Amino acid sequence: MTQRRILVTSALPYANGHIHIGHLVEYIQTDIWVRFQKLRGNQCVYICADDTHGTAIMIRAWKEGRSEEELIGEMREAHIRDFAEFDVSFDNYGSTNSPESRELCNEIWGKVVEAGLVIEKDVEQLYDPEAETFLADRFVRGTCPNPKCNAPDQYGDNCDKCLSTHEPLELIDPRSTLSGATPVLKTAPHKFIQLEELHDFLAEWVDSGDHLQPEVANYLKGHFLGAGTEKNPRKELKNWDVTRPPKYFGFEVPDFPGHCWYVWFDAPIGYIGSTRQWCDANGEDFDSWWRDSETEVHHFIGKDITYFHTLFWPGILKTAGFNLPEKVHIHGFLTVDGKKMSKSEGTFVMASTFARNVNPAVLRYYYAAKLGPNLDDLDLNLEEIVQKVNSDLIGKVVNIAARAAKFVGGQTLAETYPEDGGLFEAASAKADEIAAAYERCDYASAMREIMALAAAANFYIDEKQPWTLKKDPEKQGEIQGICSVALNLFRQLVVYLSPVLPKLAEQTCELLNAPIENWDDVKTPLTGTPVSKFQHMMKRVTEEQVTAMIEESKAENEAQGEDGTAAEAAGEQWNDGPEALAAEPMTEECTIDDFMKVDLRVARIVSAGDVEGADKLLALTLSLGGGETRNVFAGIKAAYKPEDLIGRLVVCVANLKPRKMRFGTSEGMVCASGPGGEDVFLLSPDEGAVPGQRVH
Ligand code: MSP
Ligand code: ZN
Repeated sequence: MTQRRILVTSALPYANGHIHIGHLVEYIQTDIWVRFQKLRGNQCVYICADDTHGTAIMIRAWKEGRSEEELIGEMREAHIRDFAEFDVSFDNYGSTNSPESRELCNEIWGKVVEAGLVIEKDVEQLYDPEAETFLADRFVRGTCPNPKCNAPDQYGDNCDKCLSTHEPLELIDPRSTLSGATPVLKTAPHKFIQLEELHDFLAEWVDSGDHLQPEVANYLKGHFLGAGTEKNPRKELKNWDVTRPPKYFGFEVPDFPGHCWYVWFDAPIGYIGSTRQWCDANGEDFDSWWRDSETEVHHFIGKDITYFHTLFWPGILKTAGFNLPEKVHIHGFLTVDGKKMSKSEGTFVMASTFARNVNPAVLRYYYAAKLGPNLDDLDLNLEEIVQKVNSDLIGKVVNIAARAAKFVGGQTLAETYPEDGGLFEAASAKADEIAAAYERCDYASAMREIMALAAAANFYIDEKQPWTLKKDPEKQGEIQGICSVALNLFRQLVVYLSPVLPKLAEQTCELLNAPIENWDDVKTPLTGTPVSKFQHMMKRVTEEQVTAMIEESKAENEAQGEDGTAAEAAGEQWNDGPEALAAEPMTEECTIDDFMKVDLRVARIVSAGDVEGADKLLALTLSLGGGETRNVFAGIKAAYKPEDLIGRLVVCVANLKPRKMRFGTSEGMVCASGPGGEDVFLLSPDEGAVPGQRVH
């Protein structure tokens, strides 16, 4: 295999807020990909930095009475700490406010001007004469101008009492939230980049190669570029406003004294600036990373910042003569228990709060198990994270080592690898398939494959039962053989999992006294090597830990108030961005193993009645025979009258985890088909069926 040279970036987190679990979707996704590439023997560097410029930082520093540099310095330290906790391991973590970045901005700007892409135009905007800065609409508040409402303290663009929209200066007694001064309209010149000049190049780039996920390419063609067909005619790209008049925290534009580049102009240049820092520190040749067609540049970003990375950025890179991205990998957004992260509900969890309460490896594995190659949003379900991680990592993976190592700790593995019924061979034959899944960012598939191998390894130990041989001195050789197989199968799993779980890989190296350095380590079993005494590898996650994390998070947000800096900071950038990409809902595959877990039983409805305060539910009592019953709430009220249900046979899920609802606890589920409402049809076994029988 030839070695690839790969430069990988994650989006530069905004320096105005702390890292939260939403951000971590991206940094964990990228870190896994980078660790995978390194394990494959590719030359891969992971570059990131803080995104430090813009109004939000300037205003926050101003409010806190300190310099921007002090603020961003402190935040950078916090970001680095948070990332380290989650084993996100950058080769360089820079800052957009660095000399390297400034120099590159100058150079790139020079090229853009030289190409004739820049024009100047006047822009009229609100201005705070006391703070001496232009204001975004949300920094203006006043009394709602709607005569029927007149609610005090409303935002510049709409009123949250009567929901009317207005212009900021239509507010009665408008005030700047920065200084309290009355804002005025003021005109200033801005420089624009005429992106339309690059239309043909961008249309081709978007369409050719495998630079973008197909849904992204379609979205860009639909919303920004057009396709030149009758149905989708060519669209014109808007000029992009890339400078800001004073005061603004940023780099001064060399040919525009007093004015700074807009934060989104210099932010992506931070990728290159941070690479330059890494090159200087490591004796690497800069041009071979950014001006060499052999090098692959891969950007990982969230869907909210698609436009900047897929139109603006390739246009700039092309104009300035740098490498174009080989691929922009775009992921969806995090929800928690199916809803947007919320401060008041405690689900807007900071990375540090998570790490204080729950092992960060838990989040790495959970995200890996959920991340596919597309832009679907990803849901962190607080019950599922506990159940899934315990069942997979503790129950299936670590359990193998725990069961096998105790018999051979302090001894060695067998001198020749014993007969194992083809298990080792079968698992190493999966190497290419699992690698391909990692490569295309389909970690969910990779995790499923790995867990299927883990199930086979467990099955082997269950069958061989080394613990039953322990007392028989003549069986010690046999035990060594069984444990040599088990520990080698375990090591294979750990190699496959090591991009996701680097700590587990380290512990395994210590246990088996052999390094894990290459993907091909799955191909050769260890023989004759010493086994260390088994040390505990990973503790179970508990519901209590998760609850404590949410409670702590709630308390933190209450203490801080709702003017959450990260969301506000992001707002500044999002306002200028295009609408977020619409994503298809996620459909996850269910394996046979998953399905077999569902205990479907025949049951008889012995009582049925309304539920007070619930207009869709009926309360059912199901008999499973032998005196066993379940109380279940079923959303079938529009379709069935309670009295018609009594005595009827149904199919129920008998091992569903009891769920607390507002009306009581539901201990199962009845199976039905149909779209819902009145059209719900209970599945009914034939009358000969007996309550308690399993349904296959
Ligand atoms: N500073 C810009 C990026 C500049 S890149 C040249 C920015 N910063 S951010 O801090 O708001 O977001 C950093 C990354 O985290 C983005 O890719 C963003 O999409 C991602 N996420 C932020 N919140 C997220 C979720 N709730 N869920 C998933 N990803 C999220 O944007
Ligand atoms: Zn109003």
